Amino acid sequence: MQQDPLEREEDQLATRLWQELSRAPHDRHHDWRTPTLSTQGLGQTGPQARTVVLRHADVSLWSLMVYTDSRSPKCAELLAQPLAQFTFWSKRLNWQLRVSTQASVDLDGEQVRAAWEKVKATRAASDYLSELPPGQIQSSSKTLVEMSEDAVSDHHLAVLSFKVTSMDWLALRKDGHRRARLKPNGSLEWLVP
Ligand SMILES: Cc1cc2nc3c(=O)[nH]c(=O)nc-3n(C[C@H](O)[C@H](O)[C@H](O)COP(=O)(O)O)c2cc1C
Repeated sequence: MQQDPLEREEDQLATRLWQELSRAPHDRHHDWRTPTLSTQGLGQTGPQARTVVLRHADVSLWSLMVYTDSRSPKCAELLAQPLAQFTFWSKRLNWQLRVSTQASVDLDGEQVRAAWEKVKATRAASDYLSELPPGQIQSSSKTLVEMSEDAVSDHHLAVLSFKVTSMDWLALRKDGHRRARLKPNGSLEWLVP
């Protein structure tokens, strides 16, 4: 008897999810290229959620990577509380993926050097070269970044790495929604959607 294609997809769910996650950083049009990253705010600020660009997804390590400005509040938040969650939504797939993670923050070292090598000749370089820290109040709405040689060596790029601890997949389907929790040890539990 032939297996239903949907059941086959579900057998291979972890593989399918990592396929999409790995494609997203290389495809400008992939919905999963720009997930929401949620952290615990410092003090009484409450939860903090923002859009980030997914730079790398590693299926063998179950890890995700994001670049940020080392002075941005999310860095201090992740250093104080490394538990963080990504929310991905794909209209094409009709899938939501919530990814629970444990973060680490690299402010210098090989990862940062390699990331800066990739970014420094692109327009995104200016995101990591501002004189003032992100979020600081400024006197006008304009951003001005001088790309002098000094500025380029004085970048503030930090690499955020996220070890995935579990994934919550929700598929919206006309024939009934599906939901599952997946763990790096290969476990998969079906959940009530
Ligand atoms: C489409 C999009 C992509 C973004 N990508 C990043 C990113 O990769 N890294 C980053 O630090 N901020 C990125 N931002 C800006 C963040 O959403 C946020 O405004 C900024 O990082 C400040 O966040 P924080 O104050 O919580 O640290 C992006 C915003 C948008 C709209």
